[in-house]
Amino acid sequence: MTIGIMGLGYVGLPLAVAFAEEGHDVIALDTDARKIDAIRNGDSYIEDIPSERLAAVADRIEATTHAQPLARCDAVLICVPTPLTANREPDLGPLIAATRALSGVLQSGQLVVVESTTYPGTTRERIAPMLEESGLVAGRDFHVAFSPERVDPGRTDFTLRTTPKVVGGLTDACADRAVALYDIVCDTIIRVSTPDAAELSKLLENIFRSVNIALVNEMAMLADRMGIDIWEVVDAAATKPYGFMRFDPGPGMGGHCLPVDPFYLSWRAREFDMTAEFIELAGKVNQNMPYHCVAKIERVLNDAAKPVRGSRIAVFGVSYKAGVGDIRESPALKILQVLGGLGADVVYHDPHVPELNELGLAAATLDDALDGADLAVIVTAHPEVDHDAIVDRAPLVLDLRGITRRGSADRSAVLL
Ligand SMILES: NC(=O)c1ccc[n+]([C@@H]2O[C@H](COP(=O)([O-])OP(=O)(O)OC[C@H]3O[C@@H](n4cnc5c(N)ncnc54)[C@H](O)[C@@H]3O)[C@@H](O)[C@H]2O)c1
Repeated sequence: MTIGIMGLGYVGLPLAVAFAEEGHDVIALDTDARKIDAIRNGDSYIEDIPSERLAAVADRIEATTHAQPLARCDAVLICVPTPLTANREPDLGPLIAATRALSGVLQSGQLVVVESTTYPGTTRERIAPMLEESGLVAGRDFHVAFSPERVDPGRTDFTLRTTPKVVGGLTDACADRAVALYDIVCDTIIRVSTPDAAELSKLLENIFRSVNIALVNEMAMLADRMGIDIWEVVDAAATKPYGFMRFDPGPGMGGHCLPVDPFYLSWRAREFDMTAEFIELAGKVNQNMPYHCVAKIERVLNDAAKPVRGSRIAVFGVSYKAGVGDIRESPALKILQVLGGLGADVVYHDPHVPELNELGLAAATLDDALDGADLAVIVTAHPEVDHDAIVDRAPLVLDLRGITRRGSADRSAVLL
């Protein structure tokens, strides 16, 4: 088969490689010419896909910025971003642009699957009609389905193949086609009755995480005031063999998904005279976490008779989670920005993030970051960073991830 992938980011590139590894031809389309060049050169820019893996299948991947080659595909998967506008409403701009480009070259017999996270109703009400502008009829001349991506960048215990894939087709025949397609790269396919159910299932997964992270973060703020160690509390609660799922407190939510996707549903809910209160509340609590962390930084410095202004604060880990370089919506950026505004002399170390252009900062080595630091703050605990060395060497350490509890440093850090 020939599979088209539109949007070659964290979602699209692994899919392109997976289909190519199974022996299929892939037409990989992105509007970003730099990504197209990188793919052509066998240079991966996604940490989960080593360049050797991409280079090994390069002859089966035709990378392009043009839609025309998609006319040769049996199936086209749309994996473009679904961000929010400045006033936090769904921005379907990239999804609509990709769909419109595809509509111009759509052929009878093709299957189109949307993978981008979006609100229920998008595939049925927006994508299918736009594709029908081609003159072909959805469900009759071509097939349409929604199948949410569940990739968790950096995760190695579950892969594209071993993570069950949810699929909802516009018609039964649409679902049959989509199930047969994903069967090639996934072991387990979960078929639901409509694209809308598949769209909402993805949002439920993300909202579940967002709400539970907010819950444990609210607990962390309360435990802090009460003088109780939240990590000890979470450890204790997590011994219950049923009815509890562990979520760890931290500096807030980041990445492309959790800070964004839930608001697709709260926006849509308003059309149905509903206010999605859990979503809004979780967003509020999580957005406040970086400010809580800054307040804690002020307190830790204050206890050592130091003001924030003029203190050298070394931040360790600025990506939104351990093991990856993704800084989208990372709470570390807010923490650095607020500390800078308060007059701190900020420096950071992150083996995955060489520079933070928007803050005018470049990564320091671990040694340089610790050199002369008044306080070290562990915001994201990358596995390759020696956190014991940070605790041993920095005069003060604030650990927002609880990572130093497992360490063997002689001294101890202040915990979130
Ligand atoms: N990153 C994740 O972990 C993850 C997980 C599950 C679902 N998702 C969802 O998958 C979708 C894609 O996310 P991502 O993280 O891969 O985004 P990304 O930003 O890494 O990649 C998207 C790619 O689409 C390209 N693009 C933008 N407009 C285009 C267009 N009109 N035509 C072709 N290409 C276009 C961009 O240049 C970019 O390379 C989003 O809806 C996201 O919510 C992401």
